[in-house]
Amino acid sequence: MVVLFPWGSILMRVAPRRWAMPVHAAMQMVALSMFIVAATLGISLVREVRIPGQSGGLMSNPNFNYHPIIGLVVLGLLLIQPALGMLHHLGYKKTGGRQVWSYLHLFNGRAAITLGIANGGLGLWMAGEGKGLKTAYVVVAVVMWTLWMAAAVWGEWRRWKWIRSTGTTDDKPRGGE
Ligand code: HEM
Ligand code: HEM
Repeated sequence: MVVLFPWGSILMRVAPRRWAMPVHAAMQMVALSMFIVAATLGISLVREVRIPGQSGGLMSNPNFNYHPIIGLVVLGLLLIQPALGMLHHLGYKKTGGRQVWSYLHLFNGRAAITLGIANGGLGLWMAGEGKGLKTAYVVVAVVMWTLWMAAAVWGEWRRWKWIRSTGTTDDKPRGGE
């Protein structure tokens, strides 16, 4: 969540044009596969973990159940990303510009990955990790998220400049795919 998904998104903006989409798609699919495996482990942990001194499982405690719930929401949101990315790509090849799928892919991807990064911090808190690890996580998360947002804003600005200077919605040569 903190390294692979943001890095795969940054590459969409900074990799050489020809490679950007394939590298982005491949990297996000590797990240998604790892996330599916990790979420499966999370689901088995939910069944095993007991809170000392309390009866009932993790899900019956409102102080602890939101990490797995948010994690499953993030999983659901990210599972539709490959289809949205594919629909965007096919439409882009036809029209040379963005369509509704493109905006859904961009918005859903940015929101879900950000939520997932925050959820990692909640996981460390829930597992009772020490201050050192939690601080390190927050530092890495803030640095990665800032780099990613800088790349995203730069990409949008480059695209906007191209569209303005050419008077076309066709963003092929700059900043789109
Ligand atoms: C956005 C996705 C997720 C991230 C980034 C994430 C991250 C983490 C992290 C960093 C920990 C702390 C591990 C430790 O220090 O021992 C943790 C613990 C845990 N996670 Fe997740 N997780 C995610 C999704 C899920 C999901 C989908 C579930 C289950 C449905 C889940 C269930 C758990 C459980 C039960 C623990 C507690 C383990 C313990 O207290 O020993 N997580 N998670
Ligand atoms: C779980 C899988 C995926 C995730 C999480 C994901 C996430 C993202 C994110 C966050 C962005 C925006 C980058 C930014 O912030 O500026 C993006 C852009 C893009 N993605 Fe994906 N993506 C995934 C899979 C795919 C796939 C499979 C394809 C192609 C078939 C694809 C094609 C694209 C394209 C072409 C863009 C740029 C769209 C534009 O600028 O108009 N993505 N993706």
